[in-house]
Amino acid sequence: MTTGLELDTELVLPEPADTEALGERLAAELGPGDLVVLSGPLGAGKTVLVRGIARGLGVAGPVTSPTFVIAREHRPLPGGRGVPLVHVDAYRIGGAAELDDLDLDTDLAEAVVAVEWGEGVAERLAERHLLVRLQRQPDDARTATVSRMEEQVR
Ligand SMILES: Nc1ncnc2c1ncn2[C@@H]1O[C@H](COP(=O)(O)OP(=O)(O)OP(=O)(O)O)[C@@H](O)[C@H]1O
Ligand SMILES: [Mg+2]
Repeated sequence: MTTGLELDTELVLPEPADTEALGERLAAELGPGDLVVLSGPLGAGKTVLVRGIARGLGVAGPVTSPTFVIAREHRPLPGGRGVPLVHVDAYRIGGAAELDDLDLDTDLAEAVVAVEWGEGVAERLAERHLLVRLQRQPDDARTATVSRMEEQVR
């Protein structure tokens, strides 16, 4: 998992399209078994970034913030990369046991798994992951810092 972009550096994302484009760039480096953990406050752009990952992988949409669904699988579209995307919103997840109930390790065998609100709970799903920290700036732009996290204690 190499990103081809500067890691551990604050990237400025003035518009939603920039955030989506970052997701698309990340997708180029992602494959089955890769876990992406997204952190940042409400409205930071986590779902927008996952939408970019979905476009980059070439999976069926739409990518939305589901109200009642915690995990949604987006299947590959013809002409895409052939890798499914599992989009998880862990906002309402109570803890590790509830996360385990989603069987995401099974999904990870063949899909990219992206988890919003996953910091502190989703790391245990894989030995390494990509952490995308999104922030909302006073001028309403967003910033993102992408880090490669390895050797997490499971
Ligand atoms: N630079 C930007 N990048 C991403 N979104 C932006 C940007 N500027 C404005 N926005 C707006 O901010 C909102 C981000 O919403 P999004 O659903 O992606 O946030 P989220 O982090 O997933 O929130 P939640 O925690 O509620 O799931 C969208 O309405 C988007 O249009
Ligand atoms: Mg969201």
